[in-house]
Amino acid sequence: MTDPISSENHGDVRIIWSDNPPVNALGAAVRQGLVREIEAAEDDDSVKAVVIACKGRTFFAGADITEFGKPPVMPWLPTVVDRIEACEKPVVAAIHGTALGGGCEVALGCHYRVALPSAKLGFPEVNLGLLPGAGGTQRGPRVAGVELALKMATTGKPITAGEAHDAGLVDRIVEGDLVQHAVAYAEEVKDVRPLPRSSEHSDKIENVDPSVFEDYKKANAKLFRGDVAPLANLECIKAAVEQPYEQGVMTERTKFMELMSGPQAKARQYFFFAERKAAKIEGVDDSVEPREIKRVGVIGAGTMGGGISMNFLTAGIPVTIVEMNQEALDRGTGVMLKNYQSTARKGRMTEEQVEGAMGLLKPSLNFDDLGECDLIIEAVYENMDVKKDIFTKLDGIAKNGAILASNTSYLDINEIASVTKRPEDVVGLHFFSPANIMKLLEVVRGDKTADDVLVTAMALAKKIRKVAVIAGVCYGFIGNRMLIPRQLQAEKLLMEGATPQQIDKVHVEFGMPMGPFQMADLAGVDIGWHRDPERIESIRDALCAIDRWGQKKGAGFYDYDENRRPSPSEKVQSIIDDFAAKQGIEKREISDQEIVERTLYTMVNEGAKILDEGKAQRASDIDVVWVYGYGWPVYRGGPMYWADSEGLDTIVEGLKRQEERLGDDWSFSQLLLDKAEAGEKFTR
Ligand code: 3HC
Repeated sequence: MTDPISSENHGDVRIIWSDNPPVNALGAAVRQGLVREIEAAEDDDSVKAVVIACKGRTFFAGADITEFGKPPVMPWLPTVVDRIEACEKPVVAAIHGTALGGGCEVALGCHYRVALPSAKLGFPEVNLGLLPGAGGTQRGPRVAGVELALKMATTGKPITAGEAHDAGLVDRIVEGDLVQHAVAYAEEVKDVRPLPRSSEHSDKIENVDPSVFEDYKKANAKLFRGDVAPLANLECIKAAVEQPYEQGVMTERTKFMELMSGPQAKARQYFFFAERKAAKIEGVDDSVEPREIKRVGVIGAGTMGGGISMNFLTAGIPVTIVEMNQEALDRGTGVMLKNYQSTARKGRMTEEQVEGAMGLLKPSLNFDDLGECDLIIEAVYENMDVKKDIFTKLDGIAKNGAILASNTSYLDINEIASVTKRPEDVVGLHFFSPANIMKLLEVVRGDKTADDVLVTAMALAKKIRKVAVIAGVCYGFIGNRMLIPRQLQAEKLLMEGATPQQIDKVHVEFGMPMGPFQMADLAGVDIGWHRDPERIESIRDALCAIDRWGQKKGAGFYDYDENRRPSPSEKVQSIIDDFAAKQGIEKREISDQEIVERTLYTMVNEGAKILDEGKAQRASDIDVVWVYGYGWPVYRGGPMYWADSEGLDTIVEGLKRQEERLGDDWSFSQLLLDKAEAGEKFTR
């Protein structure tokens, strides 16, 4: 293996280069090389200052995650950072791309930091269930201040070079040739002594009001719920304020080791790779090139069509949006503008960017205008006849090679494709609502979908900052199909004696953002309703018949006040009781464990069927769908990883315990039974 670390002299400045593609992760060879080169530079009298720079797309993007869980190889990253900081000659970090995690810590170990305006700095360790473990929680607040360090470490979100400069984390922003500027900077500071060392005392950690930490915890209680890493990060930054540096790093080390050996870090690290694996399409050669998408067409300016369009507009891709009448078109584009303006008010977009995005939108009442689009996404309501009609028309007007996509959440893509003469160009693009915000995209592969159509869909997803997962054709694809047993069992449980609030509470305590009934009220109890108030076959039908359609009507499974705060509803309870009595169901006490087994274990069972039928490429893809599409707590890895952690035999036992109650339509997944029997796992 070639050495990733090399050096060269520019006059009396020594440049230490790292060249460790793809992201200059700080693996063993990089750590060893950095210490070797720092020592060599220090020993060489002709060298007056040092620059650390990286080749390729980025400055060090952090510790090498693939080394986690393996026997440690010396030197440790904390030792490397300490060694850089202890250097008696000035060391300047030249930052481009992303200085993340251990990379940001290396930068903090340097005495000076120079960055390109496009560079980003961050502590994403929290996303891996960790904290900056190479002195970052101690140096970070000393250099950037407690408030910013807290935000960076507990949210994991990177900051721009500009923000870092304002906070003192970057000394100079330079344009053009980064390394040339860094060398010039090193020349300027080569004789300055004493050297600024980030571990030394700083005014920024003096006189910090201790209530800062409690207030921060309270303000973020919802975000941190059930998640151990953000609080551990906070405790370490608190230690930076309350303890001398040497003791603070010991606190950091202890907490780092605690996190690293805990289940949440393992789940999050699994998920990091799961997310990246999802982008890989099985059976499709890497050499397949994507088609060029210069303009996107969207049919339907409703909530979904508008949200979908915004993704492309934000990414700078022009959109032609088509509606049936002027009123619907105006309403749809009006909502898009309002959404953009609200983003701008929150400071996440400038007025010019809003104008730029809206300027790329071409509203139209003429279907023929879609003829100029390279990708056309149909986003009208769920009705097979309507969709077939649209695709028949599209087949007549779309240009050769255009991709024809449906945003259906349940319907058969093969049937939709069958009305066209080009089923190879047809694909499902299932966005999740609100489509401009939710990160998940299910790319539904029809029997005849061409490889380059899939490759285009995955590449485009990345461009619009979505996480895409390939799904096969089946009712509800991956995500919504797994919702079906959950919803069925939740409604059965109501009749057997559980309340909506009990079931929702079990799910929220598990870590979901909301339970099945809160979700039904938010999405609309009337979704999929047959719209015949006389036909009452379920509790949902009964609620819809009396206009309890969820939050939008001020009532659903819960009552809502004017601020949309929910409270249990006596009316709903009496509907449930009536229903149970009519069906002769005797009420009993339902344990929380039964709710877990009937609503979560059944989801795992459905996931196993999806996997067995080849409707998901891999178990980890199912986890990606549930984390990004439904807010499954990432510190539990996703339903399939969670099932593995619980033990598949435990899942099978629980399901066997409940089997009689699950209903005649329910059946075991053979794959789940086989894996449990063989002591195997889905994900590892
Ligand atoms: N270690 C090992 N491999 C890494 C890595 C890391 N830190 N970061 C990225 N990679 C790998 C990815 O797995 C991927 O591999 P693949 O091509 O085989 O799938 C490849 O590098 C490219 O990554 P992306 O597809 O994510 O590329 P992007 O350009 O989209 O994003 C990035 C680049 C922003 C750097 C992103 O990869 C990222 O966020 N990486 C993780 C950064 C991170 O979490 N750093 C902290 C590590 S923990 C730490 O430092 C502990 C310390 O405090 C002690």
